[in-house]
Amino acid sequence: MANGTGRAHWGSRLGFVLAAAGSAVGLGNIWKFPYITGEYGGGAFVLFYLLCILVVGLPLMYAELIIGRRGGKDPLGALRALTAHAGPGAKALSVFTGILSVAGGFLILSFYSVVAGWAIHFLLVSFGVFPLGEGGAGAAFGALVGDPKLSSLWHTVFMLLSIVVVARGVHDGIERACSILMPALVGILVLLLVYVGMRGGLAEAVTFLFRPNFHALKPEGMLEALGHAFFTLSLGMGAMITYGSYLSRDSTVVRDGVAVAVLDTVIALLAGLVIFSVVFAAGKEPGQGPGLVFVTLPDLFASMPGGTFVGAAFFFLLIFAAWSSAISLLEVVVTFSIDEFGLTRHKAAWVFGAVIWGLGLASAFRGSVLDFLDNLTTRYMLPIGGIAIAIAAGWLVKKEDREAGFRDLGASGPLFAAIWTVIIRFVSPVAVGLVVLQKIGVLKFGG
Ligand code: PFF
Repeated sequence: MANGTGRAHWGSRLGFVLAAAGSAVGLGNIWKFPYITGEYGGGAFVLFYLLCILVVGLPLMYAELIIGRRGGKDPLGALRALTAHAGPGAKALSVFTGILSVAGGFLILSFYSVVAGWAIHFLLVSFGVFPLGEGGAGAAFGALVGDPKLSSLWHTVFMLLSIVVVARGVHDGIERACSILMPALVGILVLLLVYVGMRGGLAEAVTFLFRPNFHALKPEGMLEALGHAFFTLSLGMGAMITYGSYLSRDSTVVRDGVAVAVLDTVIALLAGLVIFSVVFAAGKEPGQGPGLVFVTLPDLFASMPGGTFVGAAFFFLLIFAAWSSAISLLEVVVTFSIDEFGLTRHKAAWVFGAVIWGLGLASAFRGSVLDFLDNLTTRYMLPIGGIAIAIAAGWLVKKEDREAGFRDLGASGPLFAAIWTVIIRFVSPVAVGLVVLQKIGVLKFGG
């Protein structure tokens, strides 16, 4: 669907919300959130994470959506257009943020696709195509990671899935895919929840996730929670600017931003409930680390009644979630090359998809590359990008552009706009700055 300017637009508001939620809900929710919650002790970590979503995540989501919809272009173009009046410093910040966004798209998608590929492999494991041997899922996972050709095969399949959708465009590709994937994902999750509810472990999982034990919350965990709030909401690399640029210039963002953040959070919590129910029902410990989903769960699925079905449903869930996020990562790169260099969508999707695929082979062949890129992007690039976007939105964008997004709140709009402006000017850059300084070792906290 295009408007008078020739730029594609979302077919409906719901379509946009589903696409943005599709971007947000991904491996971060179903793979990462449960295992870091397990590692950092449950309830108190979850509570702090919710606070981060509310105080830092949501305001930044608004910032990105406001910049996208008023700027109507890729992150670089949108920032340049909205801060043109603010002088050369603003221009430099736009270029910096634009480059960081595109680099983020390339790097994150390259390893994200490899991890999503593992989910494809374990889907086939749960169907018995690759039976679990004596060593169980631990050995199967070790063998997969130690077999770069097999990892590369699944990575190739996953990249093809992502490229095909993005090449079809905003409305016919992304919006349509997410309109199917998101409801399917919620449906699967509810089914799984009913299953674990009947089978046991749910009560313990609820206690673990929702009863805060503040002694278990270390400063390190608080920083992790803040960093994860970025990753899980797809913030700090212009994904929401890009999706926002396909909104009409006058659409408002408050309700949509809340819808995306709530969906993302609820899905992470439900996934956590399902996973920890299975873990507790089997008498296992929650702090299993990154292997939680690929090592602990498949073994438990294999030993439970109806396990084939539950395992398959779970890995479908993981693949669907990763797919709708991967699409948004590629879309950042594709929109950039269309808006800045005039490439056709088709060409951009296939050429850059192929480049990212090539880059991903490094992660498929070397686990250390995957870890390095994961750290580089989530710990440094997204938070730094987030600070840049907060500064641009809070200080450089015109008041009129800033406030227009709050119009649907009627009389209370200006009040909310004022609160948001204070947060985005001061709270977000300082909070996120602290995280970055701690990560690079300038600040030291105990724990
Ligand atoms: N939000 C996605 C997740 O939680 O898995 C990851 C992600 C997607 C990060 C898109 C950044 C992004 F631009």
